[in-house]
Amino acid sequence: MRLIVRGRAKLKGAFSVPGDKSISHRALLLGAIAEGETLVENCLVAEDVLSTAHCLQNLGVKIEGLGTTSVKVHGVGGANFYRPSSHLDCGNSGTTMRLLMGILAAHQFESWLTGDASLQKRPMERVAIPLQRMGAKIEGRTERFLPPIKMHGAKLRPIEWVLPVASAQAKSAILLAGLFANGTTIVHEPAPSRDHTERMLQALGAKVTVRDLTVAVIGPAKLRGSSFVVPNDPSSAAFFLCAAAAMPGAEITALGISVNPTRIGYIDILQRMGATVILHNERSQAGEPVADVTVRGGKLKGVTIAGELIPRTIDELPVLAAIATVVDGTTIVRDAQELRVKESDRIAAMVSELRKLGAQVDELPDGMVVYGNNKLKGTEVESYGDHRIAMALAIAGLFAEGETVIHNADCVAISFPQFPQVLASLGAEVEMA
Ligand code: S3P
Repeated sequence: MRLIVRGRAKLKGAFSVPGDKSISHRALLLGAIAEGETLVENCLVAEDVLSTAHCLQNLGVKIEGLGTTSVKVHGVGGANFYRPSSHLDCGNSGTTMRLLMGILAAHQFESWLTGDASLQKRPMERVAIPLQRMGAKIEGRTERFLPPIKMHGAKLRPIEWVLPVASAQAKSAILLAGLFANGTTIVHEPAPSRDHTERMLQALGAKVTVRDLTVAVIGPAKLRGSSFVVPNDPSSAAFFLCAAAAMPGAEITALGISVNPTRIGYIDILQRMGATVILHNERSQAGEPVADVTVRGGKLKGVTIAGELIPRTIDELPVLAAIATVVDGTTIVRDAQELRVKESDRIAAMVSELRKLGAQVDELPDGMVVYGNNKLKGTEVESYGDHRIAMALAIAGLFAEGETVIHNADCVAISFPQFPQVLASLGAEVEMA
């Protein structure tokens, strides 16, 4: 399918996006190992979360209401999954594979985890090596542990681990394994990454402590089934909020999104670029700070995005690069080499496709330099099968003259199937064909 966007709209209105992807994955996974039932409301219905749910079903977990936003997970109460009858297919989802590896490390049977062509190129060593140190047997292709991954869990011992990269998936996998180890498992991060696992484990009764960049979990831990109302996904809302920020005269409001500081680096960046961003109706939901967020468009200026900001805005860097093409001045993204091992090489993808639209962009090993004030011209571009690239290019298309056609855009269904409809509801001309 192609996504076709016509430029020159001015976005207006209030909108809701579906439930947060990271929290939905975790609600299903934690619910599966908890005792009793876990009710997940406003669960994201999208391919990545369905991959997690199907893997859990293959491991013997009963899940009701799958395919709707209200899902009930019947927890197995500990490391009590059944040996799966076939390979666990994680689809496109790195979160599914890495977090599940943490739990399977404590299951004393053989299992295989695999995924689509993109996932098979993504390194799992950041999870495999610490889990091996805890006692699990893990094999993958090459020293980078590319999937398919073969696992055999064990009786785990706790470790203290220094993560070489800020990765919430790696941190979470070690913490999940730590639930089953006898003693205190400690993870140090180089910079703060999303902390949903920590918050949700505490909500389910695990002893988790956080101090600066260090998280500790005491095992063995028993989780109690609970209920979560998933906040709306700030990473999905980011596409529209970033677009509106760079459009003088635009004004839009994202309703009920998580404003967890580990997720909204992009709001800090928009403000530094000169945008007006207002948080109202701030409240707490499922242990997460939530708010309605209004953005008023204006003339923005380029900024440098680097250091500790990167993990807090990792999934929003493609859309920030898209709007950077039309702001005043230059935007520099550094320290973001992690983008090269996402669903696609997001540095190479954005540099090549923004250039097709007429933008001046330089590629750096760990980021890019985006020159501002470009006059973009609609053309045919490629998503590389990466949902966030497809949506970021659609946003670039809003600033281009004429029509922008994004090929291979079905992938938006990985995280945000309603993306075209929400964009249209804000006044843009969009079509899937
Ligand atoms: C995620 C963590 C991030 C993020 C991904 C979701 C999670 O990945 O990019 O979309 O839910 O833990 P890394 O842990 O690889 O940084």
